[in-house]
Amino acid sequence: MNPLNPPPAKPSGLQRSALVASLAERRWLIFVLLVILSLLSLMVFTALHWAAMPPSRVEKIDVSSVHLRGEFIESNLGTAQEAGGRVVVRLVAQQYSFVPQCLVVPEKTPVTFRGTSTDAIHGFLIGKTNANTMLIPGFISTFTTSFEQQGEQLMPCHEYCGVGHEAMWAKVQVISREEFQSRMQHEERLNCVSR
Ligand code: CUA
Repeated sequence: MNPLNPPPAKPSGLQRSALVASLAERRWLIFVLLVILSLLSLMVFTALHWAAMPPSRVEKIDVSSVHLRGEFIESNLGTAQEAGGRVVVRLVAQQYSFVPQCLVVPEKTPVTFRGTSTDAIHGFLIGKTNANTMLIPGFISTFTTSFEQQGEQLMPCHEYCGVGHEAMWAKVQVISREEFQSRMQHEERLNCVSR
């Protein structure tokens, strides 16, 4: 045996475990990087393809005076038709109900929702439509959508907001444009009627 070039020493037990550990770490590192990459590409895909964007502006509101003055006092809630014919629904969420409990909107018409919360974080979606938002104390959530079909839709709270969360519901009645216009001539704010 050449004393200047000894054969490599056999790895000790400790060295072997270090090797196994570093291989496992590398495998998990690659796995996690793949997960992050796929989440990022999902974000890019939904942003470009579905135009799903985070809110581009922030509207704030003083929680302590929501009921007392301003846009969300009780007499101003519900569906209204504003200058230029724009249909606007205003609502407030609180533990554990929506005000109003039942919304009326016309079909096939852009409807703008404006809502806020007075206590916890709530949210809602409307039946099988793309209407979906969170309602956060101190902020006004808004989006515009239109309803393609007449009929009644359920509108559940979809953010866990406390023990009464699962009982927090409202309804949306989608009526024809003609009925909406004729009722709007007699009422300033539309509410549901049982039918
Ligand atoms: Cu309100 Cu859940």
